[in-house]
Amino acid sequence: MEQKNEMSITFDSRSSNEGFARVAVAAFCTQLNPTMEEVADIKTAISEAITNSIIHGYNSQIKKIQIDCCIEGKDLWVSVIDTGCGIPDVKKAMEPLYTTRPELDRSGMGFAFMEAFMDELCVESEVGKGTTVRMKKTIGTPKNLFA
Ligand SMILES: Nc1ncnc2c1ncn2[C@@H]1O[C@H](COP(=O)(O)OP(=O)(O)OP(=O)(O)O)[C@@H](O)[C@H]1O
Ligand SMILES: [Mg+2]
Repeated sequence: MEQKNEMSITFDSRSSNEGFARVAVAAFCTQLNPTMEEVADIKTAISEAITNSIIHGYNSQIKKIQIDCCIEGKDLWVSVIDTGCGIPDVKKAMEPLYTTRPELDRSGMGFAFMEAFMDELCVESEVGKGTTVRMKKTIGTPKNLFA
């Protein structure tokens, strides 16, 4: 069994850092030889999680976002962590089209995209404490081989 390989970054919750953070994760995962499509999937999922921390978690206040990555075998695990307002009802928040910010032209599809583009998604949140979105993608095994 290969040893696991970990990487963490912490950055200010500015939308200008979102591009940097998703590229950092994409660069880290290149050691798994992902396809362009797999990299694009990972970047999209990370972007959605970061945007959620910025907009919802911190309501656009500048605080810290942490991303923990871990490679284990062919699996890439990514956690996007904020210490923002938290989510009162995670199950409801994860329903497609559910948004608490329709006035910001949010469509409520962020979690649905994360679920579609990654192989596993787990959201842990506590009101007043923050949110951790943990995702896994196994590189080299398309979700639907016959799609
Ligand atoms: N990090 C977070 N902190 C607090 N609340 C969150 C966080 N992430 C998501 N939420 C809540 O979950 C809801 C659903 O998130 P989701 O990403 O699916 O949709 P959205 O962000 O509202 O819209 P879209 O992602 O399509 O722009 C959000 O409207 C928000 O209420
Ligand atoms: Mg969102």
